[in-house]
Amino acid sequence: MRKPMVAGNWKMHGHRATNATLLDAIVRGLPTGIDAAVYVPFPYLEQVSALLATTPLTWGAQTLQAAPSGAYTGEVSAQMLVEFACRSVLVGHSERRALFGETDAQIAAKFVAAQAAGLQPVLCVGETLAQREAGQTEAVVASQLQAVIEAAGVEALSHSVLAYEPVWAIGTGQTASPAQAQAVHAFLRQQVSRLAPEVALGLRILYGGSVKANNAAALFAMADVDGGLIGGASLVAEEFLAICAAAAHTR
Ligand code: PGA
Repeated sequence: MRKPMVAGNWKMHGHRATNATLLDAIVRGLPTGIDAAVYVPFPYLEQVSALLATTPLTWGAQTLQAAPSGAYTGEVSAQMLVEFACRSVLVGHSERRALFGETDAQIAAKFVAAQAAGLQPVLCVGETLAQREAGQTEAVVASQLQAVIEAAGVEALSHSVLAYEPVWAIGTGQTASPAQAQAVHAFLRQQVSRLAPEVALGLRILYGGSVKANNAAALFAMADVDGGLIGGASLVAEEFLAICAAAAHTR
């Protein structure tokens, strides 16, 4: 059975003075039986790694540079993340794709670089509202996934996590319905299954996009929804913990 996972994406939020309070409250209330992680801004990695070192809550970054080192002003490599004891890293978040112009090819390269350094990539895919309305959801997420499969090989997915995040649901309060999420998750799993059934069976697919305490249980009850990637609600300990509890109760 796939172990549920709840991942908090802080985005560009946090403050050195309040990070400890938030993380302390989360660690105290964390249920057993799930994997929980927080993805924090680069400057906080040292603080967060010290705070969480002896806890079950793991941490990672929100992106990385595919190149191992060199003249890439402002960038951070996989190896640098390893130095802060990150276990995983988000790759291809829709904000990276839309605001920073990351292409499928660049995202695939980041996925490969993360794995080469021993990090577990959390690969995000998802369609925009216009794409959904044009009936392109499956084609869009399939091609985002395919770019990574071509670069890394399908077996590489067994050391990764997939996150379906419809762009129209991120930060909008407009969550995908459980049925909408399930349909895309099942489709993604089937795409992998055609190539490698065993990999598909073990692959965790998280849902992200306005997951809150009051809708998490219904989403996580879906057969192919293995947890959540949580933005706004990951900044409020009570909300995040309620989502973690919902994940722990679904399996
Ligand atoms: P949200 O963000 O929960 O605030 O919608 C999700 C994400 O972007 O990962």
